[in-house]
Amino acid sequence: MKKALSFVFATGALFFAGQTFAKTCELEISANDQLQFDKQELVVAADCESVTLTLNHTGKLKVEQMGHNWVVASDADWQAVAQAGMQQGLENNYLPPGDERIIVHTDLIGGGESTSVTFDVAKFEKGGDYTFFCSFPGHWAVMKGKLVIE
Ligand code: CO
Repeated sequence: MKKALSFVFATGALFFAGQTFAKTCELEISANDQLQFDKQELVVAADCESVTLTLNHTGKLKVEQMGHNWVVASDADWQAVAQAGMQQGLENNYLPPGDERIIVHTDLIGGGESTSVTFDVAKFEKGGDYTFFCSFPGHWAVMKGKLVIE
């Protein structure tokens, strides 16, 4: 009886903690066959502890022709990361493997596909300057936007 009661208490406490402290926010962005993201800015609200970002490729072209991903680096780093990624090939998502300047990224996907990534907001500075982009060669010149961490 004693054991059963403490189990109930522990479960309740975990549930409560989950509700109160570990808010996961959802963000969504789409990309098409015309090298466009549908948003130029994404905002992570101040009370988000983690974020699940879903990328939808609404086009029809294959990943080899029109691959899209969603990559975030600081405003200072993102162009160097994009340039370094160009030589890395599809198997590396056109990203330099293990590069610490990449704060978060999804896989590269083709038309009709979706992918998502969940990340910890603590990886970012509140109010910092971050750019999201697609690292497919040539895309990042136009496929980019601002990630705001409130
Ligand atoms: Co792309």
